[in-house]
Amino acid sequence: MIIAIDGPAGAGKSTIARMIAKKMRFTYIDTGAMYRALTLKVLDAGIDPKKTSRIIRAARDIDIELVSLNSGGLKVLLDGKNVSRAIRHPRITKMVSDIAKIKGVRTVMVELQRRLARGKNCVLEGRDTGTVVFPKAEKKFFLDADFAERVKRRHKEFREKPDMTQVKADDVAADLRNRDTIDSTRKVAPLKRAEDAIYVDTTHMTIVRVINELLRHING
Ligand code: DC
Repeated sequence: MIIAIDGPAGAGKSTIARMIAKKMRFTYIDTGAMYRALTLKVLDAGIDPKKTSRIIRAARDIDIELVSLNSGGLKVLLDGKNVSRAIRHPRITKMVSDIAKIKGVRTVMVELQRRLARGKNCVLEGRDTGTVVFPKAEKKFFLDADFAERVKRRHKEFREKPDMTQVKADDVAADLRNRDTIDSTRKVAPLKRAEDAIYVDTTHMTIVRVINELLRHING
């Protein structure tokens, strides 16, 4: 079974997708982490972000491994190296949407995502997992939340990380607005709700309530 969970940043996708995967013993595929890993590779290799052909080549050569930990966390290996923390750094967050909007990059990454999921029960999470990666997924969800609430959640996440406590709410808001715009207006696979996806507004919901709501649909 394929469960696809899409939505904008801060809607609760990662937390929810991870917990549903753990509960159901499904493989968890964080597609955003994959675009982030590619962005890290591009930046570390000093590739000019305007040189799309070089970026696409980097995507073709990439070796990404996603390892779900017993703790519920996710270990991301890029070319064998643990980059789980590095890919969450603001320098990556700032740049990832511009890398992810490149058509050739998406072709390569979508193929990789399908390969990772082949023959398995999976929970995939991202922006286009229910529209493009697995349009025939058995269960599709679109998680959303008010902009202010999404900013609040992301800001809280930063404040809890030892080296990012000084990140300001205004900067988080500017980043989210920028990514929302790029992710939903790009030509290839823009963020949008699949017609057959169940829409869940998580603004006023606890994590437990969202999980129960999704499980009700999955098991129903
Ligand atoms: O979910 P996230 O914040 O880690 O995702 C980082 C970026 O990657 C997001 O701003 C857009 C891009 N992305 C994408 O284009 N398609 C996906 N399926 C997942 C993420």
